[in-house]
Amino acid sequence: MKYTYIAGTGSYVPDEIISNFALEKMIDTSDEWIRTRTGIVERHIARKDEATSDLAVKAAQSALEDAGLEANDLDLIITATVTPDMLFPSTGCMVQKKIDARKAAAFDISAACSGFLYALEVGDQLIKSGQYQNILILGADTLSKITDWTDRNTCILFGDGAGAVILRTREKEQGVLCSHLYSDGAMSEMLQVPAGGSLRPASEETVQNRLHYITMKGNEIFKTAIKAMTEAIEQAASSVGIPIDNIDFFIFHQANTRIINAVAQRLSIPENKIPLTIQKYGNTSTASMPITLDELNKNGKVHQGDIVCFAAFGGGLTWASSLVRW
Ligand code: ACO
Repeated sequence: MKYTYIAGTGSYVPDEIISNFALEKMIDTSDEWIRTRTGIVERHIARKDEATSDLAVKAAQSALEDAGLEANDLDLIITATVTPDMLFPSTGCMVQKKIDARKAAAFDISAACSGFLYALEVGDQLIKSGQYQNILILGADTLSKITDWTDRNTCILFGDGAGAVILRTREKEQGVLCSHLYSDGAMSEMLQVPAGGSLRPASEETVQNRLHYITMKGNEIFKTAIKAMTEAIEQAASSVGIPIDNIDFFIFHQANTRIINAVAQRLSIPENKIPLTIQKYGNTSTASMPITLDELNKNGKVHQGDIVCFAAFGGGLTWASSLVRW
């Protein structure tokens, strides 16, 4: 029997910071509103010439170093992103080229903010199949590039970043214990970028109508996210017979502290088990969980044998949970 464990973590956020006070000068909002409604204080934004793969490369290099591996040891790269460098080739192929991982196959996964957990599940199953030994999983997004900076409903929320984990195989029962993935395409209109794909290819009209930016029904997503993530965590815990009280850390998709607090309240999770990075980085989409995991790991807070639960929610709609024994 083969098991998948996380051998290394990495993350990267771009240098430029936009604070809530800077946003006050751009749109009709306030630092007080953003802090109390979302928990966000500032976010990091990619340069004009910085693509998603550039962020992903830095996270990947950090994860490889943490795992004690070279790029050439990788046999697969799975990149979760909704802001690929271009429609194709995949961002994974761009990363493969830039880190010179000659033996690795590469592809992308699109599941918005849940993408990292979708990629983790695919990587876990491929490791368990025995076909792959060293897989780089990336969650990387530059949502700033598809954000309407005149829309106060969305532009206060997002930041750019990338997170990475290296999955490796071992015989001992450790690492990924389970993952549960969910989708409901019937709610796709709640969160989308309407144009730029085959349905509405880019045209003068789509640009004029601002259809290349994120549109979101934030309030409806808010309620759905709380219910879905609560149930997904319950499902994960019961499927492996681990009581929720015995879980050491809960790494949530960092979309809104009020969403996280509501789930925590429903499941009686104490605050000290929930690492938060949203205040510094905003909602970095699929990158938010691997970035938070990397900070937990590099700060020496997670120890061998600890149980870490992940829960995410995002466009699609998609949601997911995973349990990992560190
Ligand atoms: N500054 C000041 N006021 C604002 C702002 C702002 N930036 N944005 C909205 N408001 C106002 C609204 O106009 C409204 O005013 P009104 O009462 O006079 O009409 C009031 O604040 C309340 O608006 P709501 O939309 O009800 O605010 P809410 O408390 O729901 O917070 C938010 C909005 C932060 C977007 C929240 O709904 C949320 O976090 N939703 C979930 C988002 C999410 O998780 N998305 C999925 C992941 S993202 C991904 O997959 C890429």
